[in-house]
Amino acid sequence: MTATNTRNIVLHVADVHRHFGGLRALSDIDLQVEEGKTHAIIGPNGAGKSTLLNVVIGRLPPTSGAVIFDGQILTGKAPHEINQIGIARVFQTPEIFPDLPVLHNVMAPAFSKRDGAFRINLFQRLDTERAVREEAESLLQDVGLFERRNTNAGALSRGDKRRLELAMCLIQHPRLLLLDEPTAGMSRHDTNTTIELLQKIKQRGMTKLIIEHDMHVVFSLADRISVLAQGRIIAEGLPDEIRGDPRVHEAYLGGAIQ
Ligand SMILES: Nc1ncnc2c1ncn2[C@@H]1O[C@H](COP(=O)(O)OP(=O)(O)OP(=O)(O)O)[C@@H](O)[C@H]1O
Ligand SMILES: [Mg+2]
Repeated sequence: MTATNTRNIVLHVADVHRHFGGLRALSDIDLQVEEGKTHAIIGPNGAGKSTLLNVVIGRLPPTSGAVIFDGQILTGKAPHEINQIGIARVFQTPEIFPDLPVLHNVMAPAFSKRDGAFRINLFQRLDTERAVREEAESLLQDVGLFERRNTNAGALSRGDKRRLELAMCLIQHPRLLLLDEPTAGMSRHDTNTTIELLQKIKQRGMTKLIIEHDMHVVFSLADRISVLAQGRIIAEGLPDEIRGDPRVHEAYLGGAIQ
């Protein structure tokens, strides 16, 4: 086999099951994400999508199975260790520092990443690290929040909080970016701006695993799509294959895929 035929799998979710009591939220999950690609996970409400991301980032241990990233087994590692290894996530519910200005929210993860932990003198250093500030300002330009850089993050709209969180992830330069409904709560205009931003990141070669209900977003960005329904992957393939797959239409009761 030649090197050009070898797919470089950066994330492998291997035979993962996750139960909550009697509820089988994930069963038999085998997922391989190729380096530099955008892999989308779609599926109806309650399918297990967020649970799967929580397993990948170490927030939820799998009941059985393993998560392997770049050859390392992540299972059993704490979320901050997994973040240090190079995985960052934009959450379905934005997780920000509401009482800090927008600019400092973007700067904080860069310090955390650099030092491995927040330090007591973090707030003093937030005022002094020029390089981090410049990168944070540039990212705020990219996500359209530069004008609001001095506003406390808690005052932003839901859609703006999501864009802020995206900037907070990008400043960490993750190898794998996980996005859980990155355009939820956004207007069509803001959704299109976010699609353009994510396409720009793709050109930089960052691997992305994206959960999204909005099929316009999925089909604009995804190189490959896995469909989750009732905790199982029922289909996987190229966007055109998924669009035409009758099992996928059935899972969405004929509604969502156009
Ligand atoms: N911590 C938990 N404890 C018990 N049950 C849970 C927990 N988290 C999720 N579940 C259940 O697991 C199933 C999958 O939920 P999950 O949030 O992963 O779905 P989802 O595909 O992300 O849905 P949505 O599209 O609504 O965000 C659901 O039945 C949910 O109620
Ligand atoms: Mg979810």
